[in-house]
Amino acid sequence: MPGLFITLEGPEGSGKTTQLPLLSAWLTAQGYDVLRTREPGGTSIGERVRELLHDPAHTEMSARAEILLYSASRAQLVAEVICPALAAGRVVLCDRYFDSTYAYQGYGRGLSLADLRAITRFATDGLMPDVTLYLDVKPEVGLQRRVTGGEEMNRLDREALDFHRRVRAGYLELASAEPERWVVVDATGSVAEVQAQLREGLCPYFVGVR
Ligand code: TMP
Repeated sequence: MPGLFITLEGPEGSGKTTQLPLLSAWLTAQGYDVLRTREPGGTSIGERVRELLHDPAHTEMSARAEILLYSASRAQLVAEVICPALAAGRVVLCDRYFDSTYAYQGYGRGLSLADLRAITRFATDGLMPDVTLYLDVKPEVGLQRRVTGGEEMNRLDREALDFHRRVRAGYLELASAEPERWVVVDATGSVAEVQAQLREGLCPYFVGVR
């Protein structure tokens, strides 16, 4: 498939939301046709699923229902948005993708990674990112940033610190298992420093894309 599929991952407060528009603007300035989207969400069905998932009132949500809802949003996004964009040769920048499921529902909640991979293969029809940018930050720092920044705390933000530690450890394990796909960036620097690292990390993946 032509085009380039880039995903952005990171624990809470890693700065994805700040970095993504900057990266998108930079790629556009280089002449790439960029499509920016996010998970859960990115389609009208997905955005409704997102509301269900993030509502702090839904404390009774089972871990299995949670993974199926994330996967439903993902299936719709892949079919409706990502695949058509890649087929048209566009660069897709997606805020979170299936690695979030492995990190949060797998390492965080303790669901079987083998089950999660099977569900994910079905939901995405096997669509893999070409490159995954990972913004690494300790949960103590990330969660504090959220509070200081006055951002809304969703249902998962409210999990215990131990949960967020497992999520981060999971991300690092996933990244070391597939170093050819992952670019790990230290997200504790300034916005400009982190952006520079992201751009540098991405460059090798653009060879031959236009
Ligand atoms: P964000 O849009 O602020 O990054 O929030 C998304 C939240 O959803 C974040 O807490 C991580 C969580 N999440 C999962 O637990 N599993 C998933 O598969 C995805 C895509 C997100």
